[in-house]
Amino acid sequence: MTAPKWWQSGVIYQIYPRSFQDSNADGIGDLPGVASRLEYCARLGVEALWLSPIYPSPMADFGYDVADYTDVDPIFGTLAQFDALVTQVKRHGMKLILDFVPNHTSDRHPWFLESRRSRTSPKRDWYLWRDPGPDGGPPNNWLSQFGGSAWQWDAATGQYYYHAFLSAQPDLNWRNPEVRDAMYEVLRFWLRRGVDGFRVDVLWQLIKDDRWRDNPPRPGYRAGHEPPHHSQIPLYTADRPEVQQVVAEMRRVVDEFEERVLIGEIYLPVERLVAYYGAQLDGAHLPFNFRLLQSPWNARAIATLIDRYERALPAGGWPNWVLGNHDIARIASRVGPLQARVAAVLLLTLRGTPTMYYGDELGMTDTTIPPERVQDPFEKNVPGLAVGRDPSRTPMQWTSGEYAGFSTRAPWLPISSASAVVNVEVEERETSSPLTLYRELLRLRRSSEALTLGSYEPVAMTGDLLAYLRRSPRSCLLIALNLGPAPFELDLASLRMKGRLLLSTHMDREDRSVLADVALRADEGVIVELT
Ligand code: NOJ
Repeated sequence: MTAPKWWQSGVIYQIYPRSFQDSNADGIGDLPGVASRLEYCARLGVEALWLSPIYPSPMADFGYDVADYTDVDPIFGTLAQFDALVTQVKRHGMKLILDFVPNHTSDRHPWFLESRRSRTSPKRDWYLWRDPGPDGGPPNNWLSQFGGSAWQWDAATGQYYYHAFLSAQPDLNWRNPEVRDAMYEVLRFWLRRGVDGFRVDVLWQLIKDDRWRDNPPRPGYRAGHEPPHHSQIPLYTADRPEVQQVVAEMRRVVDEFEERVLIGEIYLPVERLVAYYGAQLDGAHLPFNFRLLQSPWNARAIATLIDRYERALPAGGWPNWVLGNHDIARIASRVGPLQARVAAVLLLTLRGTPTMYYGDELGMTDTTIPPERVQDPFEKNVPGLAVGRDPSRTPMQWTSGEYAGFSTRAPWLPISSASAVVNVEVEERETSSPLTLYRELLRLRRSSEALTLGSYEPVAMTGDLLAYLRRSPRSCLLIALNLGPAPFELDLASLRMKGRLLLSTHMDREDRSVLADVALRADEGVIVELT
């Protein structure tokens, strides 16, 4: 086996910069703030930090509306501070991954301002402009993922432009070679500055149907219960065959530099997802696997999705797992605090690169946002369906002090009321806190070839138990997770196994002798080294 790449053996940690650490008392996190917390990240034991967008932006979608791809928003700092951050991240032995948002720009981006100037603008074709449909309305039925039609009328030039998200986020025309070249230069700009790779926003949506066909209705759509765009199957607006060529081109740019990684944000069923590794593994290194975000939390469903994913992976395609991000409810809110600990073991013992979301290691839960403090444009556009993403984006909880040590003034989103006890300062001192559990898991993972590189083998179980083996030439670990409230006798002898307990989610087992059975308590997960 060739030496594993850092993005195969290491763990990725997502930082939402607005909410990690404020250094200049404006209530919003920034790059010097991140720099001041690198010690924490390194001690946690993660390999790479992924920063959500830091580029100049009107912040209509909190940085996912980019007005300049090659600079830093003053809210976050300066390019010089970014360069300093890169140096410091490396000094701490870690890597830095940037968010790349190629599908759309801000409507204030100079490219779009030029494009909307006139129908004959040299940049007109950089975006998706269309004449009205036969009835004078939008060109087709495509819907915005943030509510309403995806077409915005531009009175000055008498055409519509397409926006998959906000009208302030016009989609670029990725069929235009000039757009591609400009964007690949953006990648090189950051790669030359020492960035170790990119997480590419909505990678599977870059190319739209060249015949502009209507999307078909989705049977079973429940109006008033799910966001309006779920009423359609995005057949013609996502996962178009031609996007694979773009992915391969991006990969080639990333490959011009040593040891960099290309990660794709792709919400697709696994059988389609794996196409993004590329036909010759010349696509994304890691097409994000979001299965755990969407699965019912029970042993059978999870065992099935792991098997399905493992089976779908192409030969040589490296797996990965995501447990949380800035777009969905936090894991501790989705499954509760006890199961969140089981989920931590699952994430860090499955085969493939894990991605963690800041604060999940503390057991942070979603924070209730009073209506007058809602920030998320999705929530504002589509109210009443609890689609808001603010609850999982609240400031990192560092201390029990005012504003949780995040800032010295009221932050842009409220601090969780749980911060008095759920914070780094408190949890560092507790032997069984979520933070201590995560640190221990990360330590174990780093020290175990079976966990980082070993094979995955399911172990047949009944009821609420999920069990599997991770095996390397030198060692074999059994991971047994109780996803339910009833105790469970894990009879190792009947599985022709015996072993030594390395870790329990309850962090209270001292016995390291060789066991023939383990009495699993409610919501307990264990890692057993088989002997
Ligand atoms: C996916 C990002 O994760 C999300 O936060 C953003 O709103 C959309 N893409 C649009 O960029």
